[in-house]
Amino acid sequence: MSLFHSTRTLPEDATGAALRADVRDGLTGTPKTLPPKWFYDARGSELFDLITELPEYYPTRAEREILVGRADEIAAASGARTLVELGSGSSEKTRHLLDALTGLHTYVPVDVSESALTRAGQALVAERPGLRVHALIADFTRPLALPDTPGPRLLAFLGGTIGNLLPAERAAFLAGLRAQLSPGDALLLGTDLVKDEGVLVRAYDDAAGVTAAFDKNVLAVVNRELGADFDLAAFDHVALWDAENEWIEMRLRSRGAQTVKIRALDLAVDFAAGEELRTEVSAKFRRDGVRDELSAAGFGTTHWWTDREGRFALSLSTVR
Ligand SMILES: C[S@@+](CC[C@H](N)C(=O)[O-])C[C@H]1O[C@@H](n2cnc3c(N)ncnc32)[C@H](O)[C@@H]1O
Repeated sequence: MSLFHSTRTLPEDATGAALRADVRDGLTGTPKTLPPKWFYDARGSELFDLITELPEYYPTRAEREILVGRADEIAAASGARTLVELGSGSSEKTRHLLDALTGLHTYVPVDVSESALTRAGQALVAERPGLRVHALIADFTRPLALPDTPGPRLLAFLGGTIGNLLPAERAAFLAGLRAQLSPGDALLLGTDLVKDEGVLVRAYDDAAGVTAAFDKNVLAVVNRELGADFDLAAFDHVALWDAENEWIEMRLRSRGAQTVKIRALDLAVDFAAGEELRTEVSAKFRRDGVRDELSAAGFGTTHWWTDREGRFALSLSTVR
């Protein structure tokens, strides 16, 4: 019997309807925006995995360093029997937690990318006899239908992905997570930290152009899914540090004036020369800010660990 199975918790065509709504809202607003979750079709997930190996992209290496050093402490503090991971992607770094969580009953990876979930889940059950993997194809910003597995639960949200939510969205998201957890459960949160602007910008605008290809992939997704005619070569990838908000923005800048047609929406979208479409915000954090946001959502932070260079942090919190 295979110990891998997956559940699609989205109703039929929920993805299509959500994409249509997001594209219509995002491309008719000012400034134009698209939510980052639409990067991650099979190609987008592959490109993200390539990004994690780039010399400029330090967050994955920094977070892995912390996990390697602290996985035993995390396991002892949480005593988790169920590990739920939001935005799990390739589950690559998670292996350090899975090694340490000796009493684990089930691993529940949650992601919008079905291809990433299937590849990662099948590899994990093949390499770890006895591990049960129950993958959820779901949008983590919506209430999760978690499988009925034993507690305590450790909910991991790694990679700094929380920074893709805007502050008000983060507050609602964290409060929603808290509401789905019980006393004794814990939250392991990866947050990228504020640092030198040059280091940050290079992490989102690498010399090999992999991040540029990832950024433009959202246009390829809209072309394929909604019959749009975006010319990917007519946009340039831009990464900017917003010092006031302490976040990186990824944008696509129109090289010239152009009109893009989106057949499924019966919509024509005009871009002025140089006009930018915001595709991702990636907030960077400070220790007090993380603690305060978690506290406002009903979590008490018990541990805070950083890598040796202080670039990235993992925090462990319990429900209050
Ligand atoms: C920045 S990557 C991080 C992947 C992995 N956790 C890591 O640390 O390398 C973000 C992951 O979250 C997933 N994701 C993004 N938005 C999502 C959403 N709203 N709901 C579920 N998964 C989402 C993506 O498919 C992708 O696998």
